[in-house]
Amino acid sequence: MSIIHILPEAVANKIAAGEVVERPASVVKELTENSLDADAGRVEVAVESGGKRLIRVTDDGCGMSHDDALLAFERHATSKIRSAEDLFEISTLGFRGEALPSIAAVSRLVLETRHVSEGAGTRIEFAGGRLRDVKEVAWAAGTEVEVRDLFFNTPARRKFLKSESTELGHIATLLTHYALAQPQKSFRLASLTNEILNVSPVSTHRERVYQVMGGQLLEQLVEIAPQERRMLVSAPAGYGEEAEPAEEAPIVRLSGFASRPEVQKLNRNHIYFFVNRRLVRDRLILHAITEAYRNILPAGVYPVALIFLELPATEVDVNVHPSKTEVRFRHSAFIHDFVRDSIRQALIAARPVAAFSLPRTSRSAGSGPAEDAEIAERLSEEPPLMGSAPAPQSARIEAAGRPGQAQRGSIRGADASTLPAAGAPHHSALPPNLRLSSPLPEPRTGTLPLEEAAPASYAPGAPEGGADADTLPLLAVVTSFHATCARWARSRTASSWPPTPKGCGSSTST
Ligand SMILES: Nc1ncnc2c1ncn2[C@@H]1O[C@H](COP(=O)(O)OP(=O)(O)OP(=O)(O)O)[C@@H](O)[C@H]1O
Ligand SMILES: [Mg+2]
Repeated sequence: MSIIHILPEAVANKIAAGEVVERPASVVKELTENSLDADAGRVEVAVESGGKRLIRVTDDGCGMSHDDALLAFERHATSKIRSAEDLFEISTLGFRGEALPSIAAVSRLVLETRHVSEGAGTRIEFAGGRLRDVKEVAWAAGTEVEVRDLFFNTPARRKFLKSESTELGHIATLLTHYALAQPQKSFRLASLTNEILNVSPVSTHRERVYQVMGGQLLEQLVEIAPQERRMLVSAPAGYGEEAEPAEEAPIVRLSGFASRPEVQKLNRNHIYFFVNRRLVRDRLILHAITEAYRNILPAGVYPVALIFLELPATEVDVNVHPSKTEVRFRHSAFIHDFVRDSIRQALIAARPVAAFSLPRTSRSAGSGPAEDAEIAERLSEEPPLMGSAPAPQSARIEAAGRPGQAQRGSIRGADASTLPAAGAPHHSALPPNLRLSSPLPEPRTGTLPLEEAAPASYAPGAPEGGADADTLPLLAVVTSFHATCARWARSRTASSWPPTPKGCGSSTST
């Protein structure tokens, strides 16, 4: 007698949904990615009860036609890829054709959308994966997806959700990531009582970091000016010849921010790495960043870093995990070294004018000015990387800690040093290029309950760390400071990157 049977479709759908939808933040992630893939310039997210009761994502993207809107809820229905070859050249955030059916399987979902080519909009209602209603509606443009009562039909899953404020913290962290990666778009996140994030379009990452993190935190970061490197890996060398970069060898671009040495974190939760504007977790890159800080940060402490890497889609495989937060690089050693060298070069270049205070938190007892002077000397002797100008002789490392600097062994103190404390004085010895040309008002403190928010784990592969406020992802903390920033942000024209997304192409059921 056969004991194997095919699972009913509803069960299979719930299993599949479990891979994609872990918590409210995963829903926000998938819907936001859809909006960005649809070339939206504005993404608005409204939540109730930390997203457990309601998540509403509205965009001004290209929208969907009536037929496409229905097809979008079929499993493996996507407009973003057509063939297996396309998997190796993915330029959109989504591509699996799984998100909408997965979310619809475990919630009460209403989608309203109108494609620019159609006169009327479409409203589709699902409950627990079942189609309840389809009708024509008047709809301005773009798409809105409303997700109510997440996991109402999988109570076991619902029980795993954390408190409302923790879930809201995850959502805030997540949306802040996307806001950082896409400065030319506007993002808004609001709960019933608070506006948590509201950023209008700006032209640079620097302005966006200011909007979401505030000026004082920005001052603790060294900007990594856009770097380019042509890959040396694709030119086959003949016998006895040295490898030459091929003409068509792909170019990799990197820019970002890395914290000054006095900023010390006890885990890697404050390191954010974006590949083609997708936030990813990657051990190789974490290693490269740690290497960049060798001899600059003591062992066991970590920096804050925001690294934006852009490379041809053929150079990176994102089809590694259903959550799409892991990648594989085709030439991982090249990427590793490029990241390491770019950060290190920026740190070295910033050193002379920054008058770094050397970190004190992890020193052995009895360390003091003599040791500081020794490390200062060692650092100033270090040759610059990647052929940059030699470090000026005037390089100076402050032997004594600055007022307010983290004290030895003070975890909270160390973290607090990176937060934009209200009314705290600006850094006195900053290089001019670290100041905004027209200083904007400091963001006001918001009311996100930080103590409850845990490290971001909106998707599998979440950062390490415990529940202590000091181990929070930095951005979950700082999102509470910027709610009013957008009023002062300057609108700029959108950049030409990324290329026109395929999210607006015709639907393809695979
Ligand atoms: N906000 C939106 N605006 C326009 N089209 C959308 C929007 N959301 C979804 N779509 C369309 O619906 C399709 C299905 O969406 P879904 O999120 O399920 O899959 P996907 O984005 O293609 O892949 P993934 O499962 O990796 O997210 C998309 O390919 C896209 O064509
Ligand atoms: Mg999607």
